[in-house]
Amino acid sequence: MYTDEMRASIEKVNQTRKERLGEKHPALEPDEKQELLEQFHPDYREDKQREVRVGPNQGDRMPVELASLLEGRTRLDPDEVDLDDPDYDVDVLIIGGGGAGAAAALTAHQQGADVLLVTKLRLGDANTMMAQGGIQASTKPGDSPATHFLDVLGGGGFSNERELVRALTNDAPHVMQWLEDLGCMFSKEPDGTMQTNHGGGTSRKRMHFARDYTGAEIMRTLRDELLNHPIPVVEFCPAVELILDEEGKCAGAVLQNLETDDVLVARAKTTIGATGGFGRLHVSDFPTSNHYGATADGLVMAYRAGCRLAFMGSTQFHPTGVAYPEQMVGQLVTEKVRGIGAQLVNTEGEQFVYSLETRDAVSSAIIRECTAADRGFTTVTGQPGVWLDSPMIEEIHGAGTVKAELPAMFRQYERFGIDMANDPILIYPTLHYQNGGIEIRDTGESRQVPNLFIAGEAAGGIHGRNRLMGNSLLDILVFGRRAGAEAASRRDETSVGRLNLDHARGFNDEVERAGLAEEASPMLLPDYLYGKAR
Ligand code: FUM
Repeated sequence: MYTDEMRASIEKVNQTRKERLGEKHPALEPDEKQELLEQFHPDYREDKQREVRVGPNQGDRMPVELASLLEGRTRLDPDEVDLDDPDYDVDVLIIGGGGAGAAAALTAHQQGADVLLVTKLRLGDANTMMAQGGIQASTKPGDSPATHFLDVLGGGGFSNERELVRALTNDAPHVMQWLEDLGCMFSKEPDGTMQTNHGGGTSRKRMHFARDYTGAEIMRTLRDELLNHPIPVVEFCPAVELILDEEGKCAGAVLQNLETDDVLVARAKTTIGATGGFGRLHVSDFPTSNHYGATADGLVMAYRAGCRLAFMGSTQFHPTGVAYPEQMVGQLVTEKVRGIGAQLVNTEGEQFVYSLETRDAVSSAIIRECTAADRGFTTVTGQPGVWLDSPMIEEIHGAGTVKAELPAMFRQYERFGIDMANDPILIYPTLHYQNGGIEIRDTGESRQVPNLFIAGEAAGGIHGRNRLMGNSLLDILVFGRRAGAEAASRRDETSVGRLNLDHARGFNDEVERAGLAEEASPMLLPDYLYGKAR
């Protein structure tokens, strides 16, 4: 339900809709874009980043929240963990029950490896489940992995690791075929061809989707498949430390049962970290679109084991998080809404940015409207925002399109008395994605610690400094499958030496010498009682 003040502001949006129909705001020139980012993107706020003081990235700038976690002491005393009698002994240990972990488990199992999947919450409690808008792949005539490659590089400001982008874009059509074969139900034309849309920064329509719940449909498919195979899954049992052997190779992980606090040891020839990102750190005090468990656990564990992190100074703020109603603040409003025609409009009823610029630029433009330009609307709780003119979709494509194409979102707003087919919705950027992460090779193996693989949002370098929509659902599957295949293929040649936590002990010494170690990490769950989040 909108207030009278909101209704008055919406009236201005309504008045200009007809003249905005078919009108596209000019795209930004490169130097304009850079200036916009430097002035308004949260990554450039001096007070919100600092240098990390210990470990492989010592001296690198990153969000203060992450730096503090990386400088934390271990949750468990390494001297009190008995590594001599492991509770599990497997070929491939997978940490994380989202799309990347599930894809890795299925692939490794298919290759005959003995697999164990452990996860902090339930299988499927992950950002995969919450992804809405789509998955990119060049499956249509007029498109190719090479064109997709160029778009990914452009989106990342040409900072991406090219070998990873090559893997991403070359594997993409195979991933789509794999999902189809597993029974994933994408939106299709009556003749059975896949429907595809544009996303921000794409030169071709290659966004495949299942209405506006693409991630949920992909996760449903993977979870069903996983449960059809004898692959053990241990839920509510996060990893809290990686284990190395005397050659410095990864040899499993220490786990902690969330319900009983029991400490368990999983010994493994290879380990795949698929622990996701850091949205729940609420970087720069932003609300987040991320799931409850997105607390950077994998980064912390891998960092202590010697892995370097790439691009951690770059965070993705999705331009369109919900700004009203209060109960939904931070929740994702999929880019698909703009992909099918909704425009971003300020309180003067004007478009102020091309709505499919890359996310970093669109978010910056929204922040500018709500601050320096003073053309944003502020709700009674003090939350700023601009209007996303969703009724424009009905103008372009006809009545009923919003409900048909965005059924999940339509229903969510309807519960609060808002009809987004007839009224615009108020949005503001939300913390959505960790662009950076652990450095990997194109097999998914970490660059610094042998036999440790990383897949999904915990990995860094694929997207450079800015990921494009639909390349995350893709990367979790590309690198989940690659990591699963490579990890499984090592099972005959790999022998595990004496298990140890010397790296964790050494790290504790280092942080103590530096006068740090104020917090224990990984965080595991966000601490909302003490105001770390909203
Ligand atoms: O806007 C979206 O639906 C988000 C997709 C993504 O981050 O890939």
